[in-house]
Amino acid sequence: MAKEFNVAIAGATGAVGVEMLKTLEKRNFPVKNLKLLASARSAGKTMQFKGETLVIEEMTPASFKGIDIALFSAGSGISKEYRQIVVDAGAVMVDNSSAFRMEDDVPLIVPEVNAADVKNHHGVIANPNCTTAIMLVAVAPLHRAKKLRRLVASTYQAASGAGAKGMAELIEQTRQILNGEAIEPKAFAHRIAFNLIPHIDSFADNGYTKEELKMVYESRKMLHCADLPISCTSVRIPALRAHSESLNLEFEEEITPAEARAILAAAPGVTVVDDPEAKLYPMPVDATEKYDVLAGRIRQDISRSDKRGLEMFVSGDQLLKGAALNAVQIAELL
Ligand code: A2P
Repeated sequence: MAKEFNVAIAGATGAVGVEMLKTLEKRNFPVKNLKLLASARSAGKTMQFKGETLVIEEMTPASFKGIDIALFSAGSGISKEYRQIVVDAGAVMVDNSSAFRMEDDVPLIVPEVNAADVKNHHGVIANPNCTTAIMLVAVAPLHRAKKLRRLVASTYQAASGAGAKGMAELIEQTRQILNGEAIEPKAFAHRIAFNLIPHIDSFADNGYTKEELKMVYESRKMLHCADLPISCTSVRIPALRAHSESLNLEFEEEITPAEARAILAAAPGVTVVDDPEAKLYPMPVDATEKYDVLAGRIRQDISRSDKRGLEMFVSGDQLLKGAALNAVQIAELL
């Protein structure tokens, strides 16, 4: 009989945790026992898995006894607090937070990009920043073919990036504004309904946000290109759960849009949606609840006199490829 695993979801009630549960079920992951963990606030509530009702437990150090794989999505602080406990219990932690991503002995994995790195783990594997994961699914195949020289990204990130409370705030605030009621931003620094906010995570000394710097450093780590020039501007927009990105790509070798489309059509995890005449291009509503990243609007960069530059637009489900699906795919690699 195929091996089955005892799996725990830490943060099972969160926006990502809920999708982890659904993804384990949909992909028929070989689960022996599944433990759903959250804060004391959720203990005793129930969730469904494969037709069974599972009771959510309060997460404590004792929760990880007998667990093989622990999928963590309860925030950086909790991941740090539990790292040693999980490792000592003999489980592998697949962590969705940013706590350990840049540590040398923690593999940072997008299976379509750098699956082989997973074997270097010492009990902890990091799931990348959502926007970075979505971007690299579409960029890595082009990089493998033509070698990237420089990348400039502008992102259009959905409310789900701030968790379940982010999505709830967008919906509630939209209703409040339509009804002429007063609003009070909580999950975001400013009003998000009918607005956009060029500020995700905190600011670093160089004027970039930490979210923008994650795109730089995490991409370099996963592409194994320590010096690759990358720049990014990250913007929160009033979409619910799929992130989009405008990418300007410069390569060592010439590449035409037709070549790029052919490379991406053959790449795992990408669907090319690129027929502007038919009004077909990636959009967050179409990427929502899809496993694949949508790539389109592929065109030669007209600011250059050679054929080494491309423009491309991508959309991907933040909660799936950006988080839960990628974490379950990492578990599948194990
Ligand atoms: P809870 O729902 O009980 O608060 P999101 O990213 O959508 O905000 O979700 C965060 C997840 O992390 C939720 O499942 C939340 O559980 C969980 N969480 C928050 N604080 C703790 C804690 N101290 N111990 C365990 N889980 C926690």
